[in-house]
Amino acid sequence: MSVNRGKWSSDFGFILAAAGSAIGLGNIWRFPYTVGQYGGGAFILVYLAFVALIGIPVLLAELSVGRSTERSAVGAFKKLVPNSWWPAVGGLGVLCGFGILSFYSVIAGWTLRYFYMALGGRFGDAMTSDESTQIFTELTANPTAAILLAAAFLVLTALVVRGGISGGIERAARVLMPVFLVILLLLVGRSVTLDGASEGFAFLFAFDFSKLSAAAVVSALGQALFSMSLGMGAMITYGSYLNRDDNVPKAAVTVAFFDTGLAMIAGLMIFPALFHAGASPTGGPSLIFIVMATIFNTMPFGSMFAIAFYGLLAIAALTSTISLLEVIVAYFVDEREWSRERATWVVTAACFALAVPSALSFGGSAFFTNMFGGTGFLGMANIVFGNYFLSIGAVLICVFVGWKWGIGNAVAELNRGGNLRAAAVWGALVRYVCPVAVAIVLIYAAFTGNYL
Ligand code: PHE
Repeated sequence: MSVNRGKWSSDFGFILAAAGSAIGLGNIWRFPYTVGQYGGGAFILVYLAFVALIGIPVLLAELSVGRSTERSAVGAFKKLVPNSWWPAVGGLGVLCGFGILSFYSVIAGWTLRYFYMALGGRFGDAMTSDESTQIFTELTANPTAAILLAAAFLVLTALVVRGGISGGIERAARVLMPVFLVILLLLVGRSVTLDGASEGFAFLFAFDFSKLSAAAVVSALGQALFSMSLGMGAMITYGSYLNRDDNVPKAAVTVAFFDTGLAMIAGLMIFPALFHAGASPTGGPSLIFIVMATIFNTMPFGSMFAIAFYGLLAIAALTSTISLLEVIVAYFVDEREWSRERATWVVTAACFALAVPSALSFGGSAFFTNMFGGTGFLGMANIVFGNYFLSIGAVLICVFVGWKWGIGNAVAELNRGGNLRAAAVWGALVRYVCPVAVAIVLIYAAFTGNYL
């Protein structure tokens, strides 16, 4: 067992790193296009309900398991119930982290390229939506560019993770998160004062429940878990580096609050801009890339805003890819006793291999683009790992804490250094509400065949 696993330097350091994990492309890329696809306000309400009733309880469950064991995803279960199949739940999480990181780094790679184009002043001139689509298509369909950009992003991630917990991950978060916040607020200020912004608000706050399909509800659940980095052991792993006297409930609520708040703020940044540009909100994964690129030239200092926006995306993505990589690296460090350096580079290389088909699924290869009925390799990885694995992982973690390890143990852990208010409510949510609600959503989706 490795003796020196590393620790956060304080609970504030943890909050920054965990918020960095939670706040990412999930908030700025996935949330807006999913809201767009499922029709706006009603989806958001369901999403918020899932954050409160499932997200926060699961976050507390993961953190309690992590801190009490001081082990990463697999080792934590091993330590609490040796010789059982429970560690497989952690194994599923490690696998899921691997799956998410592989496609996430492809999108993150695009942000690097857009950032570079913004630096060159590319978005300062008028750009029609056809031109913008063409830029996006040329970039994403270019196999070499897409693959190299994903590789570059993975290497950036690895350079931070190899530095360890307080010296690598926390240090990066301390610099990146404040920069992120300042840029985002600047951009929102710009977006909400554009002509046409009110249509964007109307879309976000119109509660048309007729648009809520089973697929929308599954996606809202998947999105809540994805956005809070739950269901795959990231928060078990990050929780394992907490100090004994850190206030976990308070840290958890702070992270949840920031993550959800920033998804809403990202909505307020994207939708007014979208309606201002007269674009349709249903554009899917390419939404923010294609639409945002056309509006910078309509703003004073547009080139600067473009640099800020793509820089923001890259930063948000980086603090999240760091946590994804850390889940896998921590497994090899804790369970296989690899050095952090070796684990980092081996995992990064393996992840790169799985990133290749995702990088080729936007036209780079017809095979990977058209597979799964046109969903493509990346689209499928996003759904399978980003919705289903996380949902199943969340149920299993709740069942574990609620029925196997025990609410009493978890509450005692959460009260060490903190004070879990409404512990009975939390217990009931973890034991009954979360597993049942998630199971219903999954079964319903499977039966209606409405799961994509
Ligand atoms: N929460 C991250 C985001 O919103 C993605 C993520 C998911 C990170 C799962 C870690 C674990 O972008």
